Amino acid sequence: MNLIFLGPPGAGKGTQAKRLAARYGIPHLSTGDILRKAAADGTPLGKQAQALMDAGKLVPDEIVNGIIDEALTSPEAAKGFLLDGFPRTVPQATALDEILQRRGRKIDHVILLQVPLKVLLDRLAGRQVCPKCQTSYGRNSPPKKPGICDKDGEKLEVRPDDQPERVQQRLQEYESKTALLTGYYKARGVVRPVDGVGSVDEVEKRIEKALS
Ligand code: AP5
Repeated sequence: MNLIFLGPPGAGKGTQAKRLAARYGIPHLSTGDILRKAAADGTPLGKQAQALMDAGKLVPDEIVNGIIDEALTSPEAAKGFLLDGFPRTVPQATALDEILQRRGRKIDHVILLQVPLKVLLDRLAGRQVCPKCQTSYGRNSPPKKPGICDKDGEKLEVRPDDQPERVQQRLQEYESKTALLTGYYKARGVVRPVDGVGSVDEVEKRIEKALS
C-alpha cells in the first residue's frame, strides 16, 4: 500500500498517518518531522530549512525531493509507505512520479483530509509537541500530566510555526501551492476525500472505510 496524506496544516495528517502506518506495518514518512529533526540536530540541511519552516514557508523542492528519494530506498519501505506532508507542490509531485517509476511503483491512494478553517485554527492553537518523539497533543487529546509527554516524560513545546501569523502564512502556502495537487491526483482516480472533523477514532474509521 503506497499512500499520500493530503490536507491543510492542522488537518490531522500526522495523527492519522502514525496510526495507519502502525496498523499496516509501513513507514510513516513525514517531511516535516524529518526536517524538524535535522534542525534539532543542527545538520547543514536542518540549518538551511529551519528559518523557512519557522516562518511558515516551504523548503525548496530539491531538498525535500532528495529526502524522499533516500527514504524510499529503505528496506522498510519495500512493502509500502505513507507520505505525510509530501508532495506539497506540483514539481514535488512530478519528482515523486519519477522516483516511483524508477522503482516500478505507484501511488494507490491519496487520503484528502477535509477540515474547515475554524477547526484548523483551533487545533493549531492548542497543539503541544514532544521534541523527542514528536508525539502531538491537542485540546481534545491532552497529555496525562500537563506539559509532559506521556511516552518519554519530555517537556512539551509549542512549534514556532504554530504562532498565529505563521499559521496564516502556512495556510496561504497550502492554498496557493498544495491545494492544486487535489486536481493532479483526481485525474488519476486515486483521491479519497475524508471528513476530518470528529474524534481521532471517528476520523480513523472513515479512513479505513475509504481505503476498503
Ligand atoms: P508539516 O510538519 O508537514 O506541517 P503541516 O503540513 O503544516 O501539518 P501539521 O503538522 O501542522 O498538521 P497535521 O495535518 O499533521 O495535523 P496534526 O496531526 O499534527 O510541515 C512543517 C513545515 O515543514 C512546512 O511549513 C514547511 O516549511 C516544511 N515542509 C514540510 N514538508 C515540506 C515539503 N514537502 N515541501 C516544502 N516544505 C516542507 O494535528 C494538529 C493538531 O490537532 C494536534 O494537536 C492534534 O492532536 C490535533 N488533532 C488531530 N486530529 C484531531 C481530531 N480528529 N480532533 C481533534 N484534534 C485533533
